[in-house]
Amino acid sequence: MELEQIQSQEQVRQDESEQIKYQLTQTETLLEQTQHQLREMQVHHDKTLSYYSAHVKNLIGILWETIPQERMDVILALQGSIQQSARIASVAEYCAKGWAGDLIEIGCFLGGTTVKLAEVAKKYNRRMIAVDPWQLGTQNCHGGEYETFLKNTEAYRDVIDIVRSDSLDPQTIAKIKNKQLCFAFVDGLHTYEACLQDIQTVAHCFGVIAVDDTTWSPDVVRAFREGAALTNRNYLCIPVLRESYLLWA
Ligand SMILES: C[S@@+](CC[C@H](N)C(=O)[O-])C[C@H]1O[C@@H](n2cnc3c(N)ncnc32)[C@H](O)[C@@H]1O
Repeated sequence: MELEQIQSQEQVRQDESEQIKYQLTQTETLLEQTQHQLREMQVHHDKTLSYYSAHVKNLIGILWETIPQERMDVILALQGSIQQSARIASVAEYCAKGWAGDLIEIGCFLGGTTVKLAEVAKKYNRRMIAVDPWQLGTQNCHGGEYETFLKNTEAYRDVIDIVRSDSLDPQTIAKIKNKQLCFAFVDGLHTYEACLQDIQTVAHCFGVIAVDDTTWSPDVVRAFREGAALTNRNYLCIPVLRESYLLWA
């Protein structure tokens, strides 16, 4: 073989070797970057987990406080309801401390819970949105409920925004979806379809969504479970409480 030919082959080998070295360096750099990203993702994941579990722990702590005062020796529809308004207001306060937005109750009836939620709204400079048609013939309404609601909530008129309409009405849905929310209490029409729609209507809530009557209404239970899946939320059900909770998104 000619010397020139040998030199040229040697050059090709050297070039290939350089190319391989370069590719190796590139791969090493990529590997380092990937490892770095993975470490960052792990740290983020751990932080998210501890952030989330801290909130769940706090929420259970709030609920726990009222459990000893609840009773199991009453009819199913009343079980877990003795401290309900106070408990719901405590959860709402926790949400108001942690997240921006207003409070909402769908299905307000005589305003028993609305007043407690309005207290929280006032304390944290938020609005309390009260949605209910108070219409004769709809669930729980036999006449005069709206007037009683107005009387019962009179002291908080300055923080309550009354939305006197059906929560399933598209205009009402649009109005609610437009509001920033830190806490929602779903206690309107107790059919599967209505409850599921109400949950979806307040799904953008930054904090917790409480849903009433998950102890005794199969329709509400079904809507609650499907609502959790549809809104991508975990849920917290404690059998001695009348309501259950959809946790942070
Ligand atoms: C169980 S009561 C609510 C009790 C109330 N959350 C409390 O804690 O005292 C149910 C309420 O849902 C209301 N309601 C019925 N259908 C509704 C609908 N389509 N949209 C909004 N509220 C509805 C009724 O008028 C009634 O006042």
